[in-house]
Amino acid sequence: MSDHINPDEDVKTVAVIGAGLIGCSWAALFAASDRTVHLYDSRADAAQAMSAFWTSVKPTLIELGLARSETVPDVRVFTSLAETVATADFVQECIPERLEAKLELYRAIEPNLKPGAIVATSSSGLKLSDLQAGWRDPGRIIIAHPFNPPHLIPLVELYADERAAPGVLKRAAALYESCGKVTITLKREVLAHVANRLQAALWREAIHLVAEGVASLKDIDTAISAGPGLRWAVMGPHLLLNLGGGEGGLRAYCEQFHDSYHLWWDDLGKPLLTPDTVDKLVEGLREEIGAREYTALRQERDAKLVAILRALRDVEPAHRIETADA
Ligand SMILES: NC(=O)c1ccc[n+]([C@@H]2O[C@H](COP(=O)([O-])OP(=O)(O)OC[C@H]3O[C@@H](n4cnc5c(N)ncnc54)[C@H](O)[C@@H]3O)[C@@H](O)[C@H]2O)c1
Repeated sequence: MSDHINPDEDVKTVAVIGAGLIGCSWAALFAASDRTVHLYDSRADAAQAMSAFWTSVKPTLIELGLARSETVPDVRVFTSLAETVATADFVQECIPERLEAKLELYRAIEPNLKPGAIVATSSSGLKLSDLQAGWRDPGRIIIAHPFNPPHLIPLVELYADERAAPGVLKRAAALYESCGKVTITLKREVLAHVANRLQAALWREAIHLVAEGVASLKDIDTAISAGPGLRWAVMGPHLLLNLGGGEGGLRAYCEQFHDSYHLWWDDLGKPLLTPDTVDKLVEGLREEIGAREYTALRQERDAKLVAILRALRDVEPAHRIETADA
């Protein structure tokens, strides 16, 4: 088992390995919380990528109260992996989703880790038991899966097995929560964790509807973003359907709709991402995107996400008072 961890000891230095989409976002968030970030990427232009990323997200981080206008990010870019991790209290691994590449990286960093330091992988869906292969101390690696973009979407999915030292998950959760994240903890290992399984289930049916020509891709996207997607930003499906059952709650909802759901579930599609299907998706997407460029779409997504996050933050205190009085 790995060294005993003091869950209450704050993480001061975080090493981020991989400065792509996810790594830069994590690095910005950790740096915004006044921590020192050690960044490493096999690309030579990691420093420029990080600097451009910080400039683009700083106003948003300030707006969300996650950075101050005077924040100067302490991000140090390294060219040696060993030095990147040597003094880090915590390592956030963000290299591409390829098991062999991740295992090779872990073999290189484990001998250089500081005592008590843990490695959290951002992996979207690899299994912890596979990622533990080759470790001298498999208890040093945990899953900490964010949702893109990590500096905006609150969710982080955590999982460690019984080989992790006591306090590891508590310390990891404290780090993420201090950066404004919301954590959930898996009780057992499962491929793709929780949120990506849910997303995969929904996307599969959306693809099926496009492939079968039930509606345009644009309308299918709208069916989520203007419909249940908006509710899901507020409450999860069970809590919402509990309200859908009226005073009788989820039990009444199930009594009323169980036959319907059984029929619907039997009728759901099982499409594959064949070249033909991908062509259909890309074609439909072209119509939905219109003249908007990638950067414009990203800005639109981020502006709307920030608006929702701010609105929810404004509602939270009132809700808390109401429930406390009840
Ligand atoms: N993209 C997403 O939506 C998303 C969401 C959540 C989690 N993730 C997970 O985050 C991880 C990173 O994904 P991404 O989308 O940021 O990928 P990315 O391709 O954008 O970035 C990966 C970075 O790692 C660097 N790299 C590759 N091999 C390396 C090595 N051996 N050492 C150091 N740097 C190396 C690359 O140069 C690149 O900059 C993956 O495990 C992925 O599953 C991705």
